Amino acid sequence: MDEKIEQLKQEAAEVIRKHAATLTELNDIRVRYLGKKGEITNLLRSLGQLSQEDRPRVGQIVNTARVQLEALIAQKNAELKARELADRLSSEEIDITLPGRMQPVGHLHPLTLTQNRIKNIFMDMGFTVEEGPEIERDYFNFEALNLPKDHPARDMQDSFYITDEILMRTQTSPVQARTMQAHEPNAPIRMIAPGRVYRRDDYDATHSPMFTQVEGLVIDRGISLADLKGTLELFLHKIFNPDVGVRFRPSFFPFTEPSAEVDISCVMCHGKGCRVCKGTGWLEILGAGMVHPHVLEMSGYDPHQVSGFAFGLGVERIAMLSYGIDDLRLFYDNDLRFLRQF
Ligand code: FA5
Ligand code: MG
Repeated sequence: MDEKIEQLKQEAAEVIRKHAATLTELNDIRVRYLGKKGEITNLLRSLGQLSQEDRPRVGQIVNTARVQLEALIAQKNAELKARELADRLSSEEIDITLPGRMQPVGHLHPLTLTQNRIKNIFMDMGFTVEEGPEIERDYFNFEALNLPKDHPARDMQDSFYITDEILMRTQTSPVQARTMQAHEPNAPIRMIAPGRVYRRDDYDATHSPMFTQVEGLVIDRGISLADLKGTLELFLHKIFNPDVGVRFRPSFFPFTEPSAEVDISCVMCHGKGCRVCKGTGWLEILGAGMVHPHVLEMSGYDPHQVSGFAFGLGVERIAMLSYGIDDLRLFYDNDLRFLRQF
């Protein structure tokens, strides 16, 4: 009996040492020897069949074997747990010394930057900033600007119509009429109105069917062509530089009289002639003029008491000239190699 117990203990110890590779396996082994129907437990139960004098001694041997095996199992259990934890830690390791993944931060588009520079210069001169809808009534886009339905000058701005009476605005000038009509008759106005405009136009180095304008309107008593020229020259010297070439050219707009278009010397070729200035050495950036008396009248202003000037800037062209960009389409390609340069 004594030998049998010793043998069983040795066997169990061996199995625990060599064959318990995981906690589950270890538990199976424990059940096999020490569980309710385990081999050691069975031995303890069979003590009753022994003689009175053998019982205490053998009982003690079995008990000692049980205690030793339990200790062995506890030790193995701690070992396996430590190993599993170490395995998990190394497989789930986070390297806190790696640099973080940066979220790319964007920035304003060069056209927005240019529009903001334009706004700031005029706001410094006391202009307010107005807004008008891109989907506009024919009345504001054309009629209130002295362009009745059959007027041939409508052809200068071929339009995208939504209905006969509603179109994508071809210019920011309708905000002139909207602003006048929002004021008391003859109340002074000094405003700019930036925004997108739409035309059935070419898409080339200097044209786009969707582009950006900034309208300007100044109305008060005694406003003259000298105010128009002085304001625009000051603006142009601030947005470009004081020695940029500026040229006022007589022109025609139905809503201004007299009218002018203003060109800037081409910064790409310095006046020699290139594809941006189409060989002329100049690039047209704005239209302007003294507000036509009939336009004042139609929006409730009295041309005998007040006068005014208006202008419409092309933002893409100004951005091209101030950054030295030779193709307007770059603004709309959304090529990050281009956009990241601003
Ligand atoms: C007008 O749109 C007038 N409303 C300007 C005006 C306002 C005159 C107030 C008098 C009083 P024009 O069609 O010339 O004018 O356009 C004004 C500017 O917009 C041009 O000088 C040019 O810089 C820009 N522009 C015109 N067409 C395009 C286009 N397709 N793509 C990019 N820029 C353009
Ligand atoms: Mg023009």
